[in-house]
Amino acid sequence: GQLNIAARIVGKKYFGTATNEYQFNDTRYLAELNNTLDFGILTPANSMKWDSTEAAQGQFTFANAEQVVRQAQKHGQMMRGHNCVWHSQLPSWVSDGGFDKKTLLQIVDTHCSTVVGHFKNQIWDVINGALFILRPSQSLNHELEPFNEDGTFRESVFYNTTGTDYFAAALRAARHADPKTKLYINDYNIEGTGPKSDGMYNLVKSLKKKGVPIDGVGVQGHLIVGSVPTTIEENFRKFASLGVEVAITELDIRMELPATKEKLEQQKKDYQYVISACKKVPACIGITIWDWSDKYSWVPDVFPGEGFPLPWDEDYKKKPAYWGILEGF
Ligand code: XIL
Repeated sequence: GQLNIAARIVGKKYFGTATNEYQFNDTRYLAELNNTLDFGILTPANSMKWDSTEAAQGQFTFANAEQVVRQAQKHGQMMRGHNCVWHSQLPSWVSDGGFDKKTLLQIVDTHCSTVVGHFKNQIWDVINGALFILRPSQSLNHELEPFNEDGTFRESVFYNTTGTDYFAAALRAARHADPKTKLYINDYNIEGTGPKSDGMYNLVKSLKKKGVPIDGVGVQGHLIVGSVPTTIEENFRKFASLGVEVAITELDIRMELPATKEKLEQQKKDYQYVISACKKVPACIGITIWDWSDKYSWVPDVFPGEGFPLPWDEDYKKKPAYWGILEGF
């Protein structure tokens, strides 16, 4: 069996992976990246972000991202655009520009229109990452109302300057730039039910009510071996009840170092469980892992003492996790 084939057989649109164009000179890496039996869609892990595409105002650079697109096109793979608006990897001319609300909304509009317009026919993570801050005092409050000014939304320059208006500005710009593109809001820690997932649910519901274009919820899926949430299926069905699709967009399941045989076996079970939750919910259209070899995972750089989150090891050998994914389908 192979991952993308297994996904397609059960009616999913794809199984795919994130990648970086600066890894393409690694020929063994590239050969597997191009293997459409495993990967039917690619996401650029960095090269479509704001700091890569509009590092200076009005000066757009697409060459790096185009390298990823070219690989996908050459092999008949789909693309997921990632992302238009995020508080991170954001150039300081945006975050520290001191713009007023009207100007910042215009800047969001121009950025999203230009980037989505340039990379057409992709699924897009229009809004990315951590819409909400969960303060410890709020984390058990299931009545959380994300539209009160109670700190529920992440306090980025976008939220601080425009309130919640930047969501509509970004999504409408993306829709206008490429009407056929599927538009997503993508976030982490919304895999299972809970206050943050409720926040996403309420946000999508309110956008739909206002007629703002939104097609899907991206569930990133940066998870930890042995503590994967048990309510994924229920949570996905809840999002789906709003009439949107769901995708797992950045799956990786990390472990504390050192890796042991037991942890690798648990990781296999965890992958299997996550995949089977997506399988059971028709609205879950596909799964993307956040790169495929431990050699190129972002985890060790960001979570000291943790690693090995992906289905292939650093030497490109398939781990138990690979077979867990297949069994999950
Ligand atoms: C990560 C990249 O993989 C890293 O190379 C980069 O240094 C930081 O960003 N959530 C997201 C992704 O939405 O864009 C992040 O990607 C991982 C967390």
